[in-house]
Amino acid sequence: MRTQVGIVGAGPAGLTLAQLLHRQGIESVVLENRSREYVEHRVRAGVLEQGTVDLLVEAGIGERLQREGLVHHGIGIQFDGERHRIPLSELTDGRTIVVYGQTEVVRDLVRARLAEGLPLLFEVADVRVHDLDTDRPGIRFTHDGAEHALACDVVAGCDGYHGVCRPSIPAGVISEFSREYPFGWLGILADVAPSNDEVVYAHNERGFALLSMRSLELSRLYVQCRPDEDLAEWPDDRIWEELQLRLGLEGWTLHEGPVLERGVTGMRSYVAEPMRYGRLFLAGDAAHIVPPTGAKGLNLAIHDVRVLAEAIVAWYRTGSTTLLDAYSDACLRRVWRAEHFSWWMTSMLHRLEHDDDFGLKLQLSQLRYVTSSHAAAVSLAENYVGLERV
Ligand code: FAD
Ligand code: PHB
Repeated sequence: MRTQVGIVGAGPAGLTLAQLLHRQGIESVVLENRSREYVEHRVRAGVLEQGTVDLLVEAGIGERLQREGLVHHGIGIQFDGERHRIPLSELTDGRTIVVYGQTEVVRDLVRARLAEGLPLLFEVADVRVHDLDTDRPGIRFTHDGAEHALACDVVAGCDGYHGVCRPSIPAGVISEFSREYPFGWLGILADVAPSNDEVVYAHNERGFALLSMRSLELSRLYVQCRPDEDLAEWPDDRIWEELQLRLGLEGWTLHEGPVLERGVTGMRSYVAEPMRYGRLFLAGDAAHIVPPTGAKGLNLAIHDVRVLAEAIVAWYRTGSTTLLDAYSDACLRRVWRAEHFSWWMTSMLHRLEHDDDFGLKLQLSQLRYVTSSHAAAVSLAENYVGLERV
């Protein structure tokens, strides 16, 4: 088998890259080790920046997103018993965010690719990338019990944080930067209309909580928990009780409903530099992770593959490697802005177990500042909706 671009991973990064390349007449093969069912049901991100939405629309897969996505013009920040609104659009020349689940983005991309009869293989195993430092890189894998070899011009490592591509780079090539957080999020999807029409981030002495949604009928909610929290200790009643305590406000009701899905996510900041080794290009979570408090992970993944697709197209058209050579630096500027913003939001909103009252007072002061100073609110808003230039 031979293709132009071998793509490892059918998450948002790999699938979007394949779609962007296809629109420019470049062939690719996408290899995914999970089943279609699994990748289409993995509940994760929900907030798309306007730039992400624009790209998906331009890439020809935005039809349902434009129809069903919920356009939001602001977010709530709650602390000290009060909810404040950050009017994102007012503060950023009319920019918006769209709430549309990652599951839906992935479904739209998978459907578009399979409808065109383009290669996307699920449940591949034993994926190995090789000869990355030559101009004939390749991927070996097994599928349906048979061993396959795929020769490529370029390999795109879009296989997430736990993938095989990044660890295939020889030691010493990559520098890693990271931070672990001593907490996680317990997230639920609930069959109940969202109790607020905008996303709410809540600082509370019991710990952080987040109110979000997936549609006008489905709520998505999170509470800060231990990173290794045992879900068995969280029956539905306890989850709702905790959400009520952390999100509750005088004169406002948090509506409860059946819990459809639940999971615990650890939190990490991580960057691998450079995002390239020879003909292997890393994109999305394979190269960097942010804690979800800034809603940036999926948006960064889409930005990476936009830059990568442009660079690959330019290389095939002109033979020039200028854009491919600039790929890592071009992405890392945005990555580090998002790393800082996500770390900052996380530090401002979570309860830090070993922190003293001094830390708490600093958080409250910062929260008051971003909800009362125009300049501070603009800074939060422009980062949240996604900076046009970084
Ligand atoms: P992934 O989605 O991880 O996709 C990688 C794919 O590669 C997977 O399908 C995986 O199965 C496959 N794979 C792995 N190993 C192999 C292998 N060896 N061979 C073949 N395939 C392989 N981001 C936001 O922007 N906004 C949010 O609101 C937000 N909220 C989040 C909430 C939660 C609870 C979590 C966990 C994440 C959130 N994120 C958010 C982050 C976002 O989900 C990720 O950044 C995004 O999924 C990255 O996409 P990706 O394609 O790079 O990686
Ligand atoms: C979500 O809807 O899942 C969501 C929203 C905002 C975040 C993270 C996750 O910061």
